[in-house]
Amino acid sequence: MATSERTPQDSPPLKGSKEKVAELQRLKAEAMLGGGVKRIETQHKKGKLTARERLDLLLDPGTFNELDMFVTHRSSDFGLDEQKIPGDGVVTGYGQIDGRLVYVFSQDFTVFGGSLSEAHAEKICKIMDLAMKNGAPVIGLNDSGGARIQEGVVSLGAYADIFLRNTLASGVVPQISAIMGPCAGGAVYSPAITDFIFMVEQTSYMFVTGPNVVKTVTHEDVTFEELGGAMVHNSKSGVAHFDCPDEPACIRMIRSLISFIPSNNLEDPPRITPLDSPTRVEEALDSIIPDNPNKPYDMKAVIGYIVDDGDFFEVQEHFAANIIMGFARLNGRSIGIVAQQPGALAGVLDINSSDKAARFVRFCDCFNIPLITFVDVPGFLPGVSQEHNGIIRHGAKLLYAYCEATVPKITVITRKAYGGAYDVMNSKHVRGDINYAWPTAEIAVMGAEGAVNILFKDAIDKADDPDQRRKELIAEYTEMFANPYIAASRGYIDEIIEPHFTRAKLITALEMLKNKRDSNPPKKHGNIPL
Ligand code: HXC
Repeated sequence: MATSERTPQDSPPLKGSKEKVAELQRLKAEAMLGGGVKRIETQHKKGKLTARERLDLLLDPGTFNELDMFVTHRSSDFGLDEQKIPGDGVVTGYGQIDGRLVYVFSQDFTVFGGSLSEAHAEKICKIMDLAMKNGAPVIGLNDSGGARIQEGVVSLGAYADIFLRNTLASGVVPQISAIMGPCAGGAVYSPAITDFIFMVEQTSYMFVTGPNVVKTVTHEDVTFEELGGAMVHNSKSGVAHFDCPDEPACIRMIRSLISFIPSNNLEDPPRITPLDSPTRVEEALDSIIPDNPNKPYDMKAVIGYIVDDGDFFEVQEHFAANIIMGFARLNGRSIGIVAQQPGALAGVLDINSSDKAARFVRFCDCFNIPLITFVDVPGFLPGVSQEHNGIIRHGAKLLYAYCEATVPKITVITRKAYGGAYDVMNSKHVRGDINYAWPTAEIAVMGAEGAVNILFKDAIDKADDPDQRRKELIAEYTEMFANPYIAASRGYIDEIIEPHFTRAKLITALEMLKNKRDSNPPKKHGNIPL
């Protein structure tokens, strides 16, 4: 029947399958534009990529499978029923990084400012549930104005649905957050529960209350960047782990991080074919420790000499520089490194360094990544501020983390291992599997000067030349105690090694420990001092 011959009761002509495909393609193209060309331009003008451009960089080409492209919100308040944009402000799905499965969500600031509605949250929860069932990491690219204001409490509930999943997924699959725009209010708590937070300089910020509220409540004048910018959270608060100069660099770093870690808690980390010789000898290590025990040296140089190709992926580089941690490989196997940095606060353990390392040790333990600990620690940082701010409970976190960890744990004491800090830093007593010391190691209750001042106070006071007597006694004490041999005679040190053989020793020990099985008593969970 010709169109002109139709009666009003007739239905419109049925679409053929080709037309249906064309319609799908049109709808998809529409959805791909998110909030539209103008808002995309605004996003670019701010120096930011769009949600989809970010995913294109993050995932191996052609591997992204989008889910829920046509999901829209269900709200009708404030005229929202007139504004439905397919996808509702978040692009979700799965893809691959170096051929390995990952689940992703990428918030689209061009749609309602990436704000989180009930439907938006359901999309995120869907990929998190899939990630948990299938054992693959979740990577969230955050760029959001927070709760969808028009949806009110529904949006708050939707956030909580994500927080719950973040918590349940913790220790099951790695969770990575990149902050690529605003992340404010309670919204910060999803990234905060995840394992690693990346932030982009100048374009990202995180805070619980913004500059305006701060001004009203405390009368402090502060900019967005000063309050919660990338460097603030990387260097001062310790909230973030990576400071990235721009978005492409951020995404490259996420891909690198993924290369070191397994997809879930039941897998081992990926192993790559090593190019570096496992028996490489580094003579430079024999003279890296200065003769003067109070002189610093660079522990990162030590790490660089030892790991495969000198490639060290540092985590939280800008926070608590007195402790260094990060990922590297030994003979192609991923390892987590924790090490003192004698060049920063003499490598002392304080509140921030304890917190920083404790969380890292726990991450490695969750995900079967062997821990290598390099020790040069003069002890815990003295001071009223440290005591009053709880160095006792913060230091206890690191102790607890090492005690409970059951992954292969190897220690190398390069120089000082004094007092309680000796115990904490993966000593034999907290289940260190193999504990090495260099001949330069000093393992004792405290440094020679402190010990002599306490033990020989009277003798020094009564001496004709107290300064001279103190020097003699310090030399005697150093000779007797500031060495690794007493600990080795007890078996607390398994082997005193030539520094130049450290790489080969660590590789053979890791190989020996590769089938290690250890466990903790059955319990609901422990109660780490928080
Ligand atoms: C709905 C939002 C929105 C939100 C932004 N938009 N935030 N829509 N809910 N939370 C919309 C804007 O109306 C605008 O729409 C578009 O997104 C872009 O926003 P602009 O303001 O033009 O962008 P910009 O100047 O870059 O400023 C970004 C911003 C600002 C700083 C994030 O939008 C802002 O302050 N938003 C409100 C932030 C907030 O208070 N959120 C609630 C936090 S409390 P058009 O149509 O013009 O493009 C919270 C609680 C979570 O999140 C609790 C969990 C437990």
